[in-house]
Amino acid sequence: MAGEARDLKVQIKNVRMVFDTRNGEMVALNGVDLDIYENEFICVVGPSGCGKSTLLNIIAGLTQPTSGTVLCNGKEVTGTGTDRGVVFQQYALFPWLTVKKNVKFALEMRGIKGKEADEEAMKYLEKVDLVKFADHYPKELSGGMKQRVAIARAYAANPEVLLMDEPFGALDAQTRTQLQTELLDTWEKDRKTCFFITHDVDEAIILAQKVIIMSARPGRIKEMVDIDIPYPRTQETKMSPRFLELKNHIWSQVYQEYLEVRK
Ligand SMILES: Nc1ncnc2c1ncn2[C@@H]1O[C@H](COP(=O)(O)OP(=O)(O)OP(=O)(O)O)[C@@H](O)[C@H]1O
Ligand SMILES: [Mg+2]
Repeated sequence: MAGEARDLKVQIKNVRMVFDTRNGEMVALNGVDLDIYENEFICVVGPSGCGKSTLLNIIAGLTQPTSGTVLCNGKEVTGTGTDRGVVFQQYALFPWLTVKKNVKFALEMRGIKGKEADEEAMKYLEKVDLVKFADHYPKELSGGMKQRVAIARAYAANPEVLLMDEPFGALDAQTRTQLQTELLDTWEKDRKTCFFITHDVDEAIILAQKVIIMSARPGRIKEMVDIDIPYPRTQETKMSPRFLELKNHIWSQVYQEYLEVRK
């Protein structure tokens, strides 16, 4: 897709990832090239084990690729940075801090302190419907609630690029729908660059401008699908003919890769 260099936020160039396992070398990613533009919302779908989380961890700077490079704002990624915020597939909270203090931690990293940090933290907890649990500790929460705290903390960190690894995967259908709506509203306001992994094709289409379909291992980009449904999108968008058409197409492509895995 044409785009000026200044609009590029993240560039993934010929990334290959090989893991040493007890069964020998395992190629998780091979020849992955991807440009992510500023303000873009990208969703990634693909069968389990195709390397989605590995790719996200490489963008986050948590994993070094075996070869190839990742640039963020034109600079090579060599480690984590406050320009990139992550919501992990498995919630990662500070167990010794309360819910509110977990969120405040992210605000304090941005230099927001005292009463302002308290008020801001509550605003983010409201977005994920956890105001009543502000003074609880993570161990007192359900899995889905912990994940919502992790989401609030990532929003509070206000990174330039939000990397989300199946953030709504562990949530019940109602909460998931509510958080999709919240994320859509937020994104439509601030258009922050999002790289969002999901197993849920409906979720990918409702959120993204572009859906990336990954192939079975070794993970490659099989297809990029432009989601040409205008924003604002609502849950009703899921009933529209264009939505269903895109869903059929993406679903059949993902299913083919799933069959590859099972061979
Ligand atoms: N640290 C590691 N050491 C060895 N192998 C690994 C490591 N991390 C991931 N893998 C392997 O790399 C492959 C890709 O894993 P990854 O977690 O990226 O898949 P995924 O697409 O996120 O899957 P899921 O949808 O189930 O979350 C898998 O075969 C996995 O076993
Ligand atoms: Mg994963």
